[in-house]
Amino acid sequence: MCGIIGYTGTLDAKKVIIDGLKELEYRGYDSAGIALMRKDQPEDPIYIMKEAGPVSVLEESTKGDEVASTCGIGHTRWATHGGVTDQNAHPHTTGRVTLIHNGIIENYRELINSYNLEDSLISETDSEVALRIIDYYYNKYQDPYRAIKKSVGIIRGSYSFCILFSNIPGKIFCIRNVSPLVAGVSEKGSLIASDLTALLPYTRDYFVLPEHTIAVLDPDGITLQDLEGNEVQPEMLHADWDVESVKKGGYPHFMLKEINEQPEAMHNTLKPRLQDGLPDFSEEGIPDSLFQDCREVCIIACGTANYAGMVGKSIMELILRIPVSVHIASEFRYEDPLIDDKTLCIVISQSGETIDTLEGMKIAMKKGAKTISIVNVKGSTIARESDYVLYTHAGPEISVASTKAYTVQLAALYLLACRMAYVRGVYDKEQASAFMNEVLMVVPVITEVLKNIVGMKHVSEKMMKAKDAFYIGRSLDYAFSLEGALKLKEISYVHAEAYPAGELKHGTIALIENGTPVVAIATQEKIYEKTISNVREVKARGAFVTLITKKGKEVGPEVCDIHLEIPDIADQFTVFPVAVMLQLIAYYTADGKGLDVDKPRNLAKSVTVE
Ligand code: G6P
Repeated sequence: MCGIIGYTGTLDAKKVIIDGLKELEYRGYDSAGIALMRKDQPEDPIYIMKEAGPVSVLEESTKGDEVASTCGIGHTRWATHGGVTDQNAHPHTTGRVTLIHNGIIENYRELINSYNLEDSLISETDSEVALRIIDYYYNKYQDPYRAIKKSVGIIRGSYSFCILFSNIPGKIFCIRNVSPLVAGVSEKGSLIASDLTALLPYTRDYFVLPEHTIAVLDPDGITLQDLEGNEVQPEMLHADWDVESVKKGGYPHFMLKEINEQPEAMHNTLKPRLQDGLPDFSEEGIPDSLFQDCREVCIIACGTANYAGMVGKSIMELILRIPVSVHIASEFRYEDPLIDDKTLCIVISQSGETIDTLEGMKIAMKKGAKTISIVNVKGSTIARESDYVLYTHAGPEISVASTKAYTVQLAALYLLACRMAYVRGVYDKEQASAFMNEVLMVVPVITEVLKNIVGMKHVSEKMMKAKDAFYIGRSLDYAFSLEGALKLKEISYVHAEAYPAGELKHGTIALIENGTPVVAIATQEKIYEKTISNVREVKARGAFVTLITKKGKEVGPEVCDIHLEIPDIADQFTVFPVAVMLQLIAYYTADGKGLDVDKPRNLAKSVTVE
């Protein structure tokens, strides 16, 4: 997710903006750029410098440039559309309009066609398409408000825009949908940014720009109006956090911030791939023949990505009725796997750099399999070397323990499963769009889970004191419990094992003692009663049971000690709210133990050794 800043006032804009970009760099850092409104060159008012690389590179390149400016905008990019190049870096400019953007424009392809933009675009970004639309309407109406209002009526997606009009000196126009923008006014001018970090050196009084509201910054203040032209009064807030905590958006750790970013990450990953309610990969160039021709699916990944693969396997087999195997990449490499040119290989990796996953993918390719990678980091090695790539749009994941990357990997797998079902004739159009509608509906469901954390905190109080814990479930619930147990052990150092609930009695139940924490997941209706029987077995042996079910299940104290409920959604989609609950249990356990949540011992974010 990109970082945005805009400033207009009395200070040297170049310095304010570059300092702000440095503060925002943690949001994404593959390129950076700046646009300044020159005071002394009315015939050529906009100075732009942008390039691939960190902000320090931009700072170096602009060092010798004395720009007489007190108004400008700046951007750090975390690529989503188009590679990491100077041209794709922001700001983008055309005619009298210069723009920076954070977010994803979903209908950019449609807009390119409707506005005949194909031949005139300079970059590969969706942002430039938005710029061209605004420029088009600015030329037509000669009114910045009308141009912006008309454009946002046409543009679909998530966005925060800061816009300079070269014939309107000293003013910055801004608007947002989903993607964040906060703004504040100081004695030295007005500022707007993706988050508070960049504002704090100048003011602690700020407001969150309401969605679909045009903000106009000038040196004396900020005015807001809604799309009907009514004046809007912002709700002022005061920040008393230190700068470090603000980088985490006010959260004490990146992990908690990233857990809370999941609704947005899911939205950004799903929405651009839906056309008329159906998954559509024409942007990614993934041909349907790939899905039609394969006889089986093979998933390769490590760690959390592998556990996302386990859920993907259950969903795909359930829907598609073809064999799906999931392989730990480091094992796959030395297994002489049974795959061929009829195998569709799905390679999952947040970083796109995990060496075992990469090498596993190369083996699959050598054996003739076609590969689709699901990757979060744009332009990474796995993304580049796979036949096709489906990017997840989670934004940078900084905490070592993966959270939002997991849920968007799942979202990508659900998109693939649905497209495959559709093109293989398993689902008709109606069924496919009903399925995707249910996937979209998990976004508000996750938001609801995030609002009520009391139950998870309660569970963590027990976990903190434990040496061992068990996560049990059957079928899909078992697949979810694998990730739940991994989260707990990697950050809280409590030994945790995930077990198929019915298998426990074949050995592991011997480890259940008085007070042993067991997290039981029972969200699958078909085997609900069976799972509850297994839960009773551990409860009878003294386990401290946390039971996760859908809302409305009657369970007494003979079954569990803590009952956590998720909203009543269809079985195939319960992984999303359950995952969030399990992440929060792990988080509060580690935090409660006073551990370094974001950097657990012995672990690395990206594992590039075998
Ligand atoms: C490391 C990380 C995990 C991650 C795994 C796979 O172990 O700590 O969080 O799940 O690598 O990483 P990848 O980038 O390939 O998803």
